[in-house]
Amino acid sequence: MAEFTLPKNSVVIKGKNFKALPGLKNVRRFEVYRWDPDTNENPRIDSYELDMDNCGPMVLDAILKIKNEVDSSLTFRRSCREGVCGSCAMSVNGKNTLACTKAIDSYPNIIKIFPLPHMQVIKDLVPDMRHFYEQYASIKPWIETKTPALQDSERLQSKSDREKLDGLYDCVLCACCSTSCPSYWWNSEQYLGPAVLLQAYRWLVDSRDEATEPRLDLLEDSFKLYRCHTIMNCTDTCPKGLNPAKAIAETKKMLLERKLR
Ligand code: SF4
Ligand code: SF4
Ligand code: FES
Repeated sequence: MAEFTLPKNSVVIKGKNFKALPGLKNVRRFEVYRWDPDTNENPRIDSYELDMDNCGPMVLDAILKIKNEVDSSLTFRRSCREGVCGSCAMSVNGKNTLACTKAIDSYPNIIKIFPLPHMQVIKDLVPDMRHFYEQYASIKPWIETKTPALQDSERLQSKSDREKLDGLYDCVLCACCSTSCPSYWWNSEQYLGPAVLLQAYRWLVDSRDEATEPRLDLLEDSFKLYRCHTIMNCTDTCPKGLNPAKAIAETKKMLLERKLR
């Protein structure tokens, strides 16, 4: 009979408890996933009580406060703190989001912070994004043309063609959607996942691009594209309010129309 128990060294255990100073009136507790590959220790959940009267409003502010004032060993990615770079993606209270744009006050009680799910962890809140970026590179995320550009001129687009890119160019490649997609959890070696498929569609509908056919050929694959079963977790979780599931459906439609041509 199959056994579904985790190996002993991967069981998440209770970690350290950093208590707030006595007398503070406005304290919130943050439970944070910790794992250090340089030790032989199990992953653990450390608990930090923070003074909210001396903390910025966003989840990333709390994480920075922990790093700066309580425990400098906490490891995470962040850069812009404006929801633009996509690097602070993590799971907060069970939903993937950007820590820098998510208000602490939007959560009741304890805030639980984990790395993006179903990714290899490099350390603490830092997932290994190499495979995700390789998949992104595979869709050739750049303009492909055959017609030479007019001399001293840009490749122009009409206003309505430009508008077709709205909701696509704004993707910050945070991977919140892909790592919330059950199909991607189980088939990420072959299935491209919602983030990369949204990007693939972004180039399919760019009026300046002239590689539509080879782009469709690449996606005409039972795993790369058709592992999407319209579960919609991707659209539900996107912290930028984008709709990867719609981009995937539109791509499937393009492939069907090509077949019927
Ligand atoms: S579609 Fe949204 S969730 Fe997915 S990578 Fe882009 S910004 Fe992140
Ligand atoms: S709609 Fe497709 S891509 Fe989005 S979560 Fe569901 S299976 Fe994954
Ligand atoms: S730090 Fe750049 S998106 Fe959060």
